[in-house]
Amino acid sequence: MAKFDFSNRDSFGSKIGVIAAAAGSAIGLGNIWRFPYVAGENGGGAFLLIYIGFIIMIGVPVMLSEFVIGRRAQRNPVGAFRLLAPKSRWPLIGFMGITAAFTILAFYTTVAGWTLEYLYLAVSNGFQGQSKADLQNNFGEFVASGTRPLVWQVVFMLLTAWIVFKGIKNGIEKYTKILMPLLLVIIVGLCVRALTLPGASEGLIFLFKPDFSKINGNVVLQALGQSFFSLSIGMGTLITYGSYISKKDNLGLTAVSVSVADSLIAILAGIAIFPAVFAFNITPEAGPSLVFITLPLIFEQMPGGYFFEIIFFVLLAIAALTSTISVLEVAVAYLAEELDMSRKKSTIIASTGITILGIFCTLSMGPLPELGFGGMNLFDILEKLSANIFLPLGGLFIVLFVGWKMGKNNVFAEISNDGLLKVRLKWVYLFIIRFIAPIAIALVFLNGLGLFGVFSGGDL
Ligand code: PHE
Repeated sequence: MAKFDFSNRDSFGSKIGVIAAAAGSAIGLGNIWRFPYVAGENGGGAFLLIYIGFIIMIGVPVMLSEFVIGRRAQRNPVGAFRLLAPKSRWPLIGFMGITAAFTILAFYTTVAGWTLEYLYLAVSNGFQGQSKADLQNNFGEFVASGTRPLVWQVVFMLLTAWIVFKGIKNGIEKYTKILMPLLLVIIVGLCVRALTLPGASEGLIFLFKPDFSKINGNVVLQALGQSFFSLSIGMGTLITYGSYISKKDNLGLTAVSVSVADSLIAILAGIAIFPAVFAFNITPEAGPSLVFITLPLIFEQMPGGYFFEIIFFVLLAIAALTSTISVLEVAVAYLAEELDMSRKKSTIIASTGITILGIFCTLSMGPLPELGFGGMNLFDILEKLSANIFLPLGGLFIVLFVGWKMGKNNVFAEISNDGLLKVRLKWVYLFIIRFIAPIAIALVFLNGLGLFGVFSGGDL
């Protein structure tokens, strides 16, 4: 059916390029914007502990499984399942991934657009002299205003589409390699400032001291959802990136490096944000607005704050961009390879579809509040649906596929580069993806949805 020329497929050019791109995908708004407020809403330290547990026990194995599928098949997620499991229903997982690409990018570009507005405000000195109440009001008014957030969202989508259109080596790899190291330096700088604020210790206690009374089924599901979202797993992003990884690279090491980098940045973001949250008396459960209010407050108090706030919002936008390109690439690779479209046409079609859904998402924050149900607007629904339903479900089927369907020898051949690498933990990996990960995901998932009625389960 497809006439795509697979012998001429683009790929990453270097090991560092692979790590930069995959870490670029993982590290994003999920770490700096979402992690602090989800942790804040779900008990801080106790949440962090469960979150890290999930990254190690489930996240890394799922990520490796995605790399295994992708590199084995050298295809987009739908094509990969078609190739590895012909005439079966497994490609449906690939289709769920494409759907998730749309739902994730719709709300993600809304927030990414906010970062551009805040960058603009930072440059034009727009936070100067503002009190906490001013910042809260202004943020609320801005996100509900309709036109401005929409314009920024479209601008962001155009940037994303432009890089994806340029391809893997000359687009994604080239930009992530420059942008990711820069991000690390700035985050560390911000942590130093936050830690020297009066009252910083209270924020650190909140972030690191576990209070187990806060834990229930829903908190555990949120931790699982956040770990999947933050690692970019469960929807085929890393199947797609895996398909561009050279046969010589070490997949296990790549998965571990990317997961460590991702967790580190989430913790650093927590260290940069919670001390300020407590120092300025903001509630840690402030929700999606958290970083947009606390950070400008820190910057106002900071020597050289003008400079740092500009750099920070540039980097927040960059972190978001290196993630949005990875999500868009999933849909573009699918259209190009399975429906035989040119890269240009695939990029235009996928971006246009996503932008339309994204526009409704942004409008649901203000002008069209009726877009939603059960007290949640479309933005909240797409966010929760993606992180807490699509990604864990996708991850569940991915580990089942690699653990039970692909064949142990194929899997071991792929992670050891056909026997060239000695992978000491291969049996542990196999045991986890066959038993522990699927059972854990299924239990957390059902329990979090309140289906066992044991805990006070919750909203998605
Ligand atoms: N991991 C990205 C972040 O933390 C978001 C993402 C989710 C990207 C799923 C790709 C796939 O911002």
